[in-house]
Amino acid sequence: MPERLTWCEVSAGALRSNVREFRRLVGPACRLGVVVKANAYGHGLVLAARTFVDAGSDLLCVNDLWEAARLREAGIEAPIVVLGWVPPAQAAEAAGLRVAVVAYDRDVVLALDRAGRDAGRPIEVHLKIETGTNRQGLGLADVRDLAACAASLPGVRVAGLSTHFADVEDTTDHAFAKSQLARFREAVEALAADGVALDRRNLANSAATILWPEAHMDAVRVGISAYGMWPSKETRVAAALTQRDRLVLRPAMTWKTVIAQVKTVPAGEYVGYGRTYRTTSDTRIAVLPVGYYDGYDRGVAGAHVLIGGQRAQVRGRVCMDMVMVDVTDVPGARAGDEVVLMGASGDETITAEQFAGWAGTINYEVTTRIAESVPRREVP
Ligand SMILES: Cc1ncc(COP(=O)(O)O)c(C=O)c1O
Repeated sequence: MPERLTWCEVSAGALRSNVREFRRLVGPACRLGVVVKANAYGHGLVLAARTFVDAGSDLLCVNDLWEAARLREAGIEAPIVVLGWVPPAQAAEAAGLRVAVVAYDRDVVLALDRAGRDAGRPIEVHLKIETGTNRQGLGLADVRDLAACAASLPGVRVAGLSTHFADVEDTTDHAFAKSQLARFREAVEALAADGVALDRRNLANSAATILWPEAHMDAVRVGISAYGMWPSKETRVAAALTQRDRLVLRPAMTWKTVIAQVKTVPAGEYVGYGRTYRTTSDTRIAVLPVGYYDGYDRGVAGAHVLIGGQRAQVRGRVCMDMVMVDVTDVPGARAGDEVVLMGASGDETITAEQFAGWAGTINYEVTTRIAESVPRREVP
């Protein structure tokens, strides 16, 4: 099979180091869950999951059963929690894959009960309480009802309560997030009063895990920061204010391609679709075999790539499978040379956050949007 001309290098050492940092933060008793949905935030589902488990994470969080099946097929036996929706029709597969399921729907719990009984092993369920995100989740009265119903079902075990923060990363004013934490605690107490024993209370994403030890509870669900990225500038500032920024996060991904062609475009010529860029002097243009099909955002403005540690600016529109960059000031650039689209080269680094700024989005979207057809190669 011919190799693709764009690929991502994923540093297993960086992923491991991030897991160690979070273990230090949450301590030995808290279950360290790492979120590997969305192709492990673009880092390669199996590669990243295996590395996280080897490095000491306790459980893997996925969005759906399809991802869980891929992990099991790859021989990964670690506990898995499905954060997204499991339709009742997939309950038997959930039992077969030995996953825990976040549930907020009676029909799903009843289907899981049947599947758990058929499999001869109860399915672990985490009920989702609504605390203000209004995405998944039930109000307190409904959670209590569902917990009471589940208590009589031998095919499920209500082990966890979960919720998700709406507004930790986007602000340094955490009053709303703290009110969600308070509502979560109230729900835990109400369920305890009902006799529901929970040993898997979980709500903390990366930002909450970094900022609030009181949010760690029985398990955390760390996504973006397990890959070495801060959730946002605001989180970094909030962490600095409380000296919690000593956490060392190592970005794990470098996205690369090669130069396909270098040519001189005379002064006054246009470059690319829509003629959005016109040269003002004779310009050396390198054509790169990567485009928006691969996840290189068509909307980037002012983007650079790195060639031999030097920056070269994108010229004209990003095409489906090609990008043109200005290498006038990179005299050594030749066809076949390696190009860094994101990551480090020499003394220069293009971070996911910088790329996100060019694309008008967030680091989460930049790495998750790199197409699955782009190979992920493990590097030390
Ligand atoms: C339910 C849930 N938990 C945890 C996470 C991880 O969040 P983060 O990547 O900010 O750590 C996500 C991410 O979207 C999520 O949807």
